[in-house]
Amino acid sequence: MEYSIALVTGATSGLGQAAARLLAKGGWHEIIVTGRSLAGAQQAAAQLAAENKTVIFTPLALDLDKPSSVQSALAELVKRGKPIEFLLLNAGMVPGKKRVLTAAGVEASQAPLIGHHQLTAGLLRANLLSPNARIVIAGAEPARGDVPLFSLTDVAALAAKRHQGNRTAAMEALLRNGPNVKYQANRAYADAKVIVAWWAAALARRLPPGMAVYAVAPGAATDTKVSRNAGWALKWLMIPIVKHIPGMNQTPETAARRYLQASEFGTDVSGQFFASAPKKFTGPIEVMRQPHLHDRANQEAAWQAVVKVSGVDFEPIKPASPSVPPITKGPGAP
Ligand SMILES: NC(=O)c1ccc[n+]([C@@H]2O[C@H](COP(=O)([O-])OP(=O)(O)OC[C@H]3O[C@@H](n4cnc5c(N)ncnc54)[C@H](OP(=O)(O)O)[C@@H]3O)[C@@H](O)[C@H]2O)c1
Repeated sequence: MEYSIALVTGATSGLGQAAARLLAKGGWHEIIVTGRSLAGAQQAAAQLAAENKTVIFTPLALDLDKPSSVQSALAELVKRGKPIEFLLLNAGMVPGKKRVLTAAGVEASQAPLIGHHQLTAGLLRANLLSPNARIVIAGAEPARGDVPLFSLTDVAALAAKRHQGNRTAAMEALLRNGPNVKYQANRAYADAKVIVAWWAAALARRLPPGMAVYAVAPGAATDTKVSRNAGWALKWLMIPIVKHIPGMNQTPETAARRYLQASEFGTDVSGQFFASAPKKFTGPIEVMRQPHLHDRANQEAAWQAVVKVSGVDFEPIKPASPSVPPITKGPGAP
């Protein structure tokens, strides 16, 4: 089978790089690989090309922490003018002990979603996703709410206690890690990934009929750089132990294969969150059915908060719409 163009974010290491490699083997014509800097993306593209003995990797600079970088990447893609069939929003990170905020005031592990939202909205506006495009965004098992040490914030309770019941304001507080949010690295990561799942559900309602989006947890793959910022307990205790327990770890290639598997799913399951079975971290993926993931008020509040923080919105796309979807920009737009 032959496919056309895929774009993989965060392809300078780990699962992004493994996914790019798998896509090349799977017959894709061109794979756009992004890194925070052009030099990093070029290095990844060159390495992938050498390994695969093929020159189908196009480097693109994309720093998701910086709206200006997303705008430049979009301008480059518009200049090329070729529609993307598979948009793999893989970039992400586990935050460290010390809270980090981007220049735009977004908590570091939440920032990739803001950049991914700006990128996706920009591609839709420019008509640069093919009519049957598949969008996959990296989730993680902590979003299920059953992973020890990674508890989730109860958004409804936070809204009731601190934001006069306004869940969008509570979501914004999580994206910015304040006000009234106490920083705790594992909780920040779990919250970031549940917001990813809610965002995917809300985006699915706004895509044209042929397109689909899924949040996909790649599962545990400790041989990547994902835990580079993690605290010592996770990095030097939990991961080394867990690594040797059967069923608790898998290769980056096995994990990345989940993304490609989801890219073949139908529109009927668009907006769903796929992960390992409850309490598991490897094995087959399935649709997650935990009620908090299907809470429409949380999904829409997450969407509205991402729109507000990113400064980028787009209206639901009507089936009969003949033109590029309108995009409205709010305060803070790049
Ligand atoms: N590995 C696992 O066990 C596991 C489990 C569940 C979910 N995940 C998810 O899988 C995805 C890939 O992780 P990985 O294991 O492959 O980790 P990784 O080896 O650290 O790779 C992450 C990639 O994302 C990029 N990235 C992170 N933040 C970025 C930003 N703000 N702007 C641009 N690029 C950014 C990194 O670039 P830099 O190197 O320049 O930062 C790197 O290329 C993440 O979303 C992660 O949360 C991983």
